[in-house]
Amino acid sequence: MNQVYEKLLGCYKSVQEKVSFKPEIALILGSGLGDYADTIDIKETLDYSEIEGFPISTVKGHKGRFVFGYVNEVPVVIMQGRVHYYEGYDITDVVLPVRLMKLMGAKVLFLTNAAGGVNYDFNAGDFMMITDHISNFVPSPLIGENIEELGERFPDMSSVYDKDLQDIIRQTSKELEIPIKEGVYIQYTGPNFETPQEVKMARILGADAAGMSTACEAMAANHMGMKICGISCITNMGSGMSDNPLTHVEVQETADRVAPLFKQLVTGVITNIGKTLK
Ligand code: HPA
Repeated sequence: MNQVYEKLLGCYKSVQEKVSFKPEIALILGSGLGDYADTIDIKETLDYSEIEGFPISTVKGHKGRFVFGYVNEVPVVIMQGRVHYYEGYDITDVVLPVRLMKLMGAKVLFLTNAAGGVNYDFNAGDFMMITDHISNFVPSPLIGENIEELGERFPDMSSVYDKDLQDIIRQTSKELEIPIKEGVYIQYTGPNFETPQEVKMARILGADAAGMSTACEAMAANHMGMKICGISCITNMGSGMSDNPLTHVEVQETADRVAPLFKQLVTGVITNIGKTLK
């Protein structure tokens, strides 16, 4: 059997032995949002370390566990801490958790992240709904023998971020009066922040925000036919766009400052998506 698939099924077996919860929506929490998972109606949790073969995150501030429970009666699985390519994992390991959440039953993937603003119309603290992405600076997680059980060899990528989910995010933003910008996310490998010229390149390529995650996860989820949506928290302006050097502390401080609004938005979006799943 394909080794990537074998590992995935091994992890799934491990999950099935420990957890009975069936999620509808999978949520990945970015920097600063991690404690959102503690605020939901938690039914079960599973530390990544309890799943045999699971890649474990090493970034400070990233808890490593799945949280299962309800957001206003919508059954969700939340990744409290994601796996990043820059930690040194194979890209297929980086997307293993997304594939796992699909096997658990999730039909929708809601991605969140912290990102640097590339678009001059953005400000630190803004939210950006992801309308498309540029992933070419990281390897495709679909490289290698295709896992037919998950999806086809040459998946269409013409609408990775589901149009209906985008409408729900716009609607929720209006309802809650939490403004949200829209744009294209570009994934760089990290862990270093970009040079000013790399940020300029991102802008020339049509990106509005740059980060170190998300696009590869969306690729794997799209391969499996999940409905995908995503929101970036613009924690800082990209390198060279302001006078200050970038620090992870700045990223964390902005994320923490706007976390209450971000959490409200995430709850609202999940609740509204839940209404369409009934
Ligand atoms: N670049 C890449 N990733 C990021 C940034 C950034 O400026 N801010 C938060 N994550």
